[in-house]
Amino acid sequence: MQYEVVLPAAGSGKRMGAGQNKLFLPLANQPILVHTLQVFEQDENCTGIWLAVKDEERAYIQNLLTQYGITKIKGLPTGGAERQHSVHSCIKEMESVEVVLVHDAARPFITIPVIEELTRVAYREGAAIAGVRAKDTMKIVEGGIIKETVDRESLWMIQTPQAFRFDLLAEAEDVAEKVGFLGTDEAMLVERLGHSIHIVESSYENVKMTTQEDLLFGEAILNKRKATSAN
Ligand code: CTP
Ligand code: MG
Repeated sequence: MQYEVVLPAAGSGKRMGAGQNKLFLPLANQPILVHTLQVFEQDENCTGIWLAVKDEERAYIQNLLTQYGITKIKGLPTGGAERQHSVHSCIKEMESVEVVLVHDAARPFITIPVIEELTRVAYREGAAIAGVRAKDTMKIVEGGIIKETVDRESLWMIQTPQAFRFDLLAEAEDVAEKVGFLGTDEAMLVERLGHSIHIVESSYENVKMTTQEDLLFGEAILNKRKATSAN
């Protein structure tokens, strides 16, 4: 199933505390952003990449694209103050496609089998998002006191990619903008329209590079993959 992907890359990486956009930090000698781009560059079902960027970082990113031979870029729209705005700036420039994926540029370890399953389910059902089962016991805490233990069976930790029929996501984003609703992911915007969202079980390796220790996990994942592919 073919698709185009939107990669929001216009954040500041405040929680990483690197004093620059965290996507430019190296993992195994390559910027995080490049690792993410390479997954989609290599996936033959991906027919276009849309990257939301900051104006002042566009030239630097264009250099990276040339340097690392990324050829599938269809647009580099200017991102917004919130991630949702950055995604929307891409959706507004895109022509209608069957399926669109939204994926955090800060999640470099997504794999093609998960992408394939997401696009298949999104095409069939309209909306599918990646997630993993919660591993720890989960409790609701209020004012420092346990209020309730939640049944873990029904709890999932949500990641990206989030995949949609293009028209459904475009409508959800337009509606959210009109009423001034800000969601933490794309699925929330589609949920508001009353549409069911399917979950696709992903991997715990699909971590988002958010804080310094994530870089250590990232290096470990890359080392493990290198060792596996060398065997
Ligand atoms: N993002 C974006 N536009 C924004 C905010 C975030 O395109 N206004 C992107 C980030 O570049 C990242 C993805 O959305 O690829 C996920 O966001 P997050 O992990 O929160 O990254 P940052 O916002 O950069 O980090 P922080 O929240 O720590 O500042
Ligand atoms: Mg953020």
